[in-house]
Amino acid sequence: MNIQEIYKLAIELGIKNDFRPKKKIDHLLKRAKDKYEKLSKDQKEIFDKELLTNPYPDSKIHFAGGSKVIKKVMAGIDIDSSELMVARYLSNHNPKGQQIDLVIGHHPEGKALADLASVMDLQVDVLAQYGVPINIAESLMKVRISEVSRGVSPSNHFKEVDTARLLGMNFMNVHTPADNLVAQFVKNKVMADNPIYVSDIIKSLLEIPEYKEGAIRGAGPRVFAGSEDNHAGKIAFSEITGGTSGNKDMWEKMSQAGIGTVIGMHIGEDHRKEAEKAHINVVIAGHISSDSIGMNLFLDELEKKGIEIVPCSGLIRVSRVNKKKK
Ligand SMILES: [Fe+2]
Ligand SMILES: [Fe+2]
Repeated sequence: MNIQEIYKLAIELGIKNDFRPKKKIDHLLKRAKDKYEKLSKDQKEIFDKELLTNPYPDSKIHFAGGSKVIKKVMAGIDIDSSELMVARYLSNHNPKGQQIDLVIGHHPEGKALADLASVMDLQVDVLAQYGVPINIAESLMKVRISEVSRGVSPSNHFKEVDTARLLGMNFMNVHTPADNLVAQFVKNKVMADNPIYVSDIIKSLLEIPEYKEGAIRGAGPRVFAGSEDNHAGKIAFSEITGGTSGNKDMWEKMSQAGIGTVIGMHIGEDHRKEAEKAHINVVIAGHISSDSIGMNLFLDELEKKGIEIVPCSGLIRVSRVNKKKK
C-alpha cells in the first residue's frame, strides 16, 4: 500500500463506523460543495478542497515525501518530534532490516489540529439520536465549537510536521475515523451484554483487553459521576467520538432527554459536576485505552495487508487479526 491508499482506507472506515447515516454525511459534503462554489477566487485559494470529499478534517497526511511503498508503520497516540526521531533512529540502526516507512499518530497535528473543531458537528447528530432536540444540541454545540476553534488557534501546530519533513519521514494522523471505530465497537459490546446496573457496564468494559491493560496501568474503566450501584437506565455513547468534549450545559438537556448513563473516554471536572447535578452516571472507560482500541481496529486492516505495526507513544497494541473480534 502507499500512504494515500492507507489514508483513504482510514476515511472509508470512519464513514462506515460513523454514528450518522451515510446519507447525512453525503448531505454535509454536498453543503460544503455548495458553499465552496459561492466563494470568491481569493477565498477559494485558501479553502482546503479536501473538505469537499472528506468529512474528517482532523485527520491528515502531513508529510509524504519518504518511502513510496509502506511495509512497516510506527503507530502511537501522540506523535511529536521525539517519536519521529525514534522512527528515524530505528530505521538508521537497522540497515539490513525493514526501515519504518510511515509514522501514524492519533491526536491531530498540523492542519488537522487547526481543523479539530470542524468535526464536532457529529456530536449534534449523536445527541439528537438520543433524544436531545437537534436545535438545542446544535445551538449549545455552536458555542463550544467556536471556543475550541479559538483555543487551538495559537498553537505551533506545524512543529511536528516540520520535523517529519526534515527527517524525510512519512507522517499522518487518524483521529475521528479511529474514534468512530472505538465508539461503534464499545457500543456493540456493551449493548450486547445488556447491562442493568452501572457495575455491569464496568464488568463488560473490562472484558475488552485494552481496558484490562488500562486498568493494570492505573487508568481502567471508572465511575466518575453517580455510583456502580445505580441503575444504568438509557445508555448514551455520546462522549467517545466527535473531536473533543462538548458544551457543559448539555448535561441538563441530556438528562431531560432521558439519558441515565454516559460512557466516555475522559471528562473534565466542570463537566463532571454538571453530570452529577443532572443525575447522570458517567462511566469513563479510559482515554489512552479507548484511543488504542480505535487505532487497533484501523491498524488491523493494515496488518491484514501485510504491513508490520510497531506500537509507540502509549498505544496498547492488541491485534484482532486471525482472531474473532473480542
Ligand atoms: Fe480519540
Ligand atoms: Fe484522545
